[in-house]
Amino acid sequence: MVAVVVTRPSPENPLSALEVRDSAPEPTTAPPAGWVPVTVRAAAINHHDVWSLRGVGLTAERMPMVLGCDAAGVDPEGNEVVVHAVLSDPSWTGEETLDPRRSLLSEVYPGTFSDTVLVPRRNLVPKPPELSFADAACLPTAWLTAYRMLFTQSGLNPGDTVLVQGAGGGVATALIALGRDGGFRVWVTSRDHERRERALEQGAHAAYETGARLPERVDAVMETVGEATWGHSLRALRPGGTVVVSGATSGQAPSAELQRVFFLQLRVLGSSMGTREELQRLLRLCATTGVRPVVDSELAMSDAADGFERLVGGEVVGKVVLVP
Ligand SMILES: NC(=O)c1ccc[n+]([C@@H]2O[C@H](COP(=O)([O-])OP(=O)(O)OC[C@H]3O[C@@H](n4cnc5c(N)ncnc54)[C@H](OP(=O)(O)O)[C@@H]3O)[C@@H](O)[C@H]2O)c1
Repeated sequence: MVAVVVTRPSPENPLSALEVRDSAPEPTTAPPAGWVPVTVRAAAINHHDVWSLRGVGLTAERMPMVLGCDAAGVDPEGNEVVVHAVLSDPSWTGEETLDPRRSLLSEVYPGTFSDTVLVPRRNLVPKPPELSFADAACLPTAWLTAYRMLFTQSGLNPGDTVLVQGAGGGVATALIALGRDGGFRVWVTSRDHERRERALEQGAHAAYETGARLPERVDAVMETVGEATWGHSLRALRPGGTVVVSGATSGQAPSAELQRVFFLQLRVLGSSMGTREELQRLLRLCATTGVRPVVDSELAMSDAADGFERLVGGEVVGKVVLVP
């Protein structure tokens, strides 16, 4: 048995709040009836887990808490499944990403970084046999977010140009792969030469230094970096263009540049995770096209601290996968 746990919020030194234990702590909230145990075969780290270590979105009273949103594994009937991480209230009938009472695994109920995770049965999606457990485990958060940003929210059409900020990130590498597959011209920025090169190898059509002047304006920008790139994202857009924002890793209080927003009639759209149906479509897309996540490294779950250290240090390209 192994469990990767956050013990207390540590805003300044998130790695100090991480603990690998021999057993999972007793959950502070009992799972509702009808939830099923999934044997975890692979899980993946997201920046969300770093926010949890910092105490963002997870209060001290809920700790110790098992981390992890993403997993692929086996259900009690022996079916290979992918876990949809968005938990909506059982009484909610609308789209789960709009439920004000929704949570992600590891926010209220224990997450996926253990041998077993308990989830509502409706959150299980069949894993296509074409995908390995490791590949499938990368999809429910970063890749689902990217899928919704590009194909549900952006309004982009094949042939349009999309700019992806922060090329090395988990969501960003998904945006590059899916954008390329969706028929868009994909431009990226990164602070790091090596990550720009990796993005080009992955299929990006052009890669620029963070903040660089682009040869022409783009139709849409995919923004997860936040404050450090927000001004550049607005300047990069053509009149009437769209910025889709799903993250703010570097800070969330940039200048809003309202004059630019209204004068150029820019559209600013928030996006959060995705629906179970979108996850199903994403899995089908990967199975039929051969598109696969960029796996930076695969580690034993007991070595999770190494993966977190590299993610916090900005060294990761793509996803770090943990295997119990
Ligand atoms: N709303 C949602 O549903 C949702 C879902 C998933 C993720 N998110 C959020 O989206 C963000 C990205 O998540 P992720 O898992 O992709 O994280 P990640 O793998 O850690 O990637 C973050 C990337 O941001 C870039 N970056 C970070 N700090 C920067 C700075 N100061 N200046 C310029 N670039 C910087 C880096 O790209 P380069 O080093 O290549 O420049 C880095 O690779 C996180 O804040 C996460 O919480 C939200």
